[in-house]
Amino acid sequence: PRVSIIGAGRVGSTLAQRIAEKNLADVVLLDIVPGMPQGLALDLMESRGIELHNRRIIGTNDYIDTAGSEIVVITAGLPRKPGMTRDDLLIINAKIVVEAAKNAIAHSPNAIFIVVTNPLDVMTYLVGQATGLTRPNQQGFVAKHRVMGMAGVLDSARFETFIALELGVLPADVKAMVLGSHGDLMVPLPRYANVNGVPITELLDAPTIERLVQRTRNGGAEIVELMQTGGAFFAPASAVSVMVESILLNQSRLLPVAAYLQGEYGLNDIVIGVPCRLGCGGIESVLELNLTNEEKAALRVSAQSVGLNIDRAQE
Ligand code: NAI
Repeated sequence: PRVSIIGAGRVGSTLAQRIAEKNLADVVLLDIVPGMPQGLALDLMESRGIELHNRRIIGTNDYIDTAGSEIVVITAGLPRKPGMTRDDLLIINAKIVVEAAKNAIAHSPNAIFIVVTNPLDVMTYLVGQATGLTRPNQQGFVAKHRVMGMAGVLDSARFETFIALELGVLPADVKAMVLGSHGDLMVPLPRYANVNGVPITELLDAPTIERLVQRTRNGGAEIVELMQTGGAFFAPASAVSVMVESILLNQSRLLPVAAYLQGEYGLNDIVIGVPCRLGCGGIESVLELNLTNEEKAALRVSAQSVGLNIDRAQE
């Protein structure tokens, strides 16, 4: 299989490495900067003999080379600078992402799209519109299962990391899920978080859990402030690679994914993070959890802010 990554920056190039080294697919890295993706691809190709895989990595500035991709990942656009919110990136990244989506689907009409560019939920919505995947076709069929955004897997991994650090347990033993939009209004669900089945509410007191929730909400900004130039990319690339893997290997994993909703959770014509099964067709199903009234309200507030930004981006 072939995965094309639009935007060969830090997230894109690290993702190319993850996909090749996990032996998941051949990778096409596309960027607007001439020579840069070609150089990265050559560098990655030269590590194959040492890393012991035989995946091809192609660098390009031309969408023709992405033709026939099973998956297109969009990471093109600007990352945050210190003090910026994800929403500050809205207008400039909207233009980049819409153009990328149109070019990519023209060459890979059957591809599944995974959006990474921020502000994530809005960009995913725009990719759904630009590719036509969230609009009914002539037969009235909506291919919304083929467009999604990555945020929840990363936000959940951050929450799990902070829980593991607090308790001094193995990160792999901690499971948590974060829903909602990728931003300050994300919706971590401590009620569902556990260490090998033991709820964290039995292991940590409420103020400690609240502190870890707040650190999760601020997880991206914490790294932006430390690095000063750009944001996180190792864990984001890992998070996308898990989604790519679940799709390519048809694993049907249940992951938090930014999905186009039509009535689920009482939300309509919006993209927001919800639990989804990911398999070879993309989003196989959306799981509707029995949320408390408070959790439902938080999800609604999160969705409202995405809706406002969709309107702003389309003005
Ligand atoms: P980066 O600046 O390292 O890479 C972005 C790349 O996009 C650059 O190489 C740039 O040349 C390229 N680009 C710009 N316009 C383009 C166009 N029209 N066509 C093709 N390529 C184009 O940024 P980084 O750190 O890789 O982040 C990428 C995006 O992902 C940012 O918007 C960032 O906020 C977002 N992000 C989202 C996460 C999430 O959880 N959803 C996590 C981490 C980053």
